[in-house]
Amino acid sequence: MNVNLIPCLSDNYSYFVIDPDSKKTCIVDPAEFGALDNFITKNKLTVDYILNTHHHADHVDGNLQLKEKYKCKIVGFEKDKSRIPGIDITLKDQETWMFGNEEIKIHHVPGHTMGHIFFHFTKSKIAFVGDTLFSLGCGRVFEGSYEEMFHSVMKVKKLPAETIIYCGHEYTASNAKFCIAYDPSNKTLEKRVNEIKTLRSKNLPTIPTTIKNEIDTNIFLRCDNREIRKNLSLENSSDIEVFIKLRKLKDNF
Ligand SMILES: [Fe+2]
Repeated sequence: MNVNLIPCLSDNYSYFVIDPDSKKTCIVDPAEFGALDNFITKNKLTVDYILNTHHHADHVDGNLQLKEKYKCKIVGFEKDKSRIPGIDITLKDQETWMFGNEEIKIHHVPGHTMGHIFFHFTKSKIAFVGDTLFSLGCGRVFEGSYEEMFHSVMKVKKLPAETIIYCGHEYTASNAKFCIAYDPSNKTLEKRVNEIKTLRSKNLPTIPTTIKNEIDTNIFLRCDNREIRKNLSLENSSDIEVFIKLRKLKDNF
């Protein structure tokens, strides 16, 4: 799968995906029309589908103009069909949808919004997770409960370790500050923070990441870590309690 990262707005990433076998194309979360239209025109591409992870404006604002110009079909979660502009194809939790010759598994991950889903390209081992998991962070809880967000983040964590993760925003540098504050003795994290600084100083993306990378460094996937629990004075708490504490601390960090 050929994945092109398209920076949009101030810190969003949209993705233009090309299946080299079937030549089918899709855009994941078009944050705006202009940046996508420029990329499509410059590269003389066609668009078959738009895939939306959730209804927030900075993930769907390009939907209608792109559909109008390129006659593509818009794909999203069936329970959020009233909030996804121009939706044509509705998908259910755990459904498999064919993109060319590739199976995409749909996972419902409520919390950031109630209708949030992520797309797992099982053969290519890539996932588009929207605003559920970020590199070194996770999404804010806007509509669901903190408990729902925990279970949703754990669904992403359960993907195979080598899975390549594409998320909706470039928040990595600020997320890193929070991780370091509560996981200061993590050497892998320290190394990663230096890599992030180098990338961002050149205005390069820190995305994609991998599940393995996140398990080693993203504090929200490390709620079972003894050192972190000690730093939070939550040695005897459950993983979910640690997650909720971290999410609330991050809300005000
Ligand atoms: Fe969002």
